[in-house]
Amino acid sequence: MAQQRISIHGEWSSRWTFILAATGSAVGLGNIWKFPYIAGENGGGAFVLIYLLCIAMIGIPVMMAEIMLGRRGKQSPINAMRTLAQEARQHHVWGLLGWSGMIAGFLILSYYSVIAGWTLAYVPRMAAGLFQSDWLFANASPERISQMFQDFTSNPLELIIWHTAIMGLTMFIVARGVRGGLERAVNFLMPGLFLILFLLIGYAVSTGAFMQGMGFLFSADFSKLTGQSVLAAMGQAFFTLSLGMGAIMVYGAYLPRDVPITSTSVTIAGADTLVALLAGLAIFPLVFANGLAPDSGPSLIFITLPNAFGHMAGGAFFGTLFFLLLVFAALTSAISIIEPAVSWLVESRNFKRPHAALFCGVLIWLTGLLTVFSFNLLADFKPIAEKTLFELIDYLTSNIMLPLGGLFIAIFAAWAMHHDAHEEELGLGKADISYRTWLFLIRFVTPVGVIFIFLSAIGVFG
Ligand code: PHE
Repeated sequence: MAQQRISIHGEWSSRWTFILAATGSAVGLGNIWKFPYIAGENGGGAFVLIYLLCIAMIGIPVMMAEIMLGRRGKQSPINAMRTLAQEARQHHVWGLLGWSGMIAGFLILSYYSVIAGWTLAYVPRMAAGLFQSDWLFANASPERISQMFQDFTSNPLELIIWHTAIMGLTMFIVARGVRGGLERAVNFLMPGLFLILFLLIGYAVSTGAFMQGMGFLFSADFSKLTGQSVLAAMGQAFFTLSLGMGAIMVYGAYLPRDVPITSTSVTIAGADTLVALLAGLAIFPLVFANGLAPDSGPSLIFITLPNAFGHMAGGAFFGTLFFLLLVFAALTSAISIIEPAVSWLVESRNFKRPHAALFCGVLIWLTGLLTVFSFNLLADFKPIAEKTLFELIDYLTSNIMLPLGGLFIAIFAAWAMHHDAHEEELGLGKADISYRTWLFLIRFVTPVGVIFIFLSAIGVFG
């Protein structure tokens, strides 16, 4: 019976720690680096609206399902899915869901770590005042700042060094386990993150073109919306909430039984959405105030922000804080991306946790070289659909693997699991209105929504 199952990895000390950890997983480069640049590429408002709809109608129900499966299975996603399939008298092929999640995690962290490395590299640059327009040695013009980014990313060795630093930190935290590593890290990092973000908003309000930034984010122009941009919005919803690959599931496995899943999920998704929107509100005013382009892609924050900060009083200080914030946010996500694989090696392959962390970390580090080279040596290597290797890995994971994973998680939770299991985990009776809403969303809205968006992205509806 589920109640007797316990996690060999330990448990979170409280509901609050779980909220911090899961919010730490959700809030990351996805909110601050990715959300602004894909919103920028897809025209702003209309994209943001679809993204918010996906969070509410697909994201929150899937998050509840994932936490539920994790807490009931009490193991790594692969083993949890096997156990739960057995309990529900389903085929053990459901274990594949754990496998695909683990592979998605490897691929995601491989590029995530490289980009997190960029943010780490920008901390000392900012602190040294390299981007200031008026300092003695740094006479940075906009051209010079984009040139600096070009020079930086075209140097594979330098990218490798920062990528190595991030993977090293990630392995170090994960090696120390749930309480000693994960929990301590988020306890310290998450409050700092919120603090710095609010500081930055205040700064943007007082300096940038705030209303113009608002207008870009919130006025919808549906003519810009294509099947592909709707897919990107859904992919971003999964990515930003850490859903579809088992990260939230494995965090759910460490969740004490008395924590209510429904309200906790809404809190986490709400906090994550808040951070993305706040990041947008901090970034777009600065973009417009400086006459910069919102659709400049992955380089958006690395070019526009140093530019903006470079022209402001106190810019070096706030810029340093900003990139430090990004490093924190990225680390609390990175540890959750690698945890499904590490916990599985510990459970099923007799690894000690530090060895498991090292083993996964090295493999992911190696895969990350593909992303490193996508910005220099292999920049012209675009094997499919005019995309670099980095763009392909990102597209494959965010837009295909995560939504597919989410789809099958929804199907399993909604159709294979018994109502009694739902009731035990969610603590909601059959007649409860939140339960009925969740069941309706997870049974029909999520699967139909994901499939519909997939089909419209490949042009089935014209
Ligand atoms: N949610 C994280 C972010 O927004 C990324 C992530 C994806 C984490 C998938 C875990 C799993 O940065």
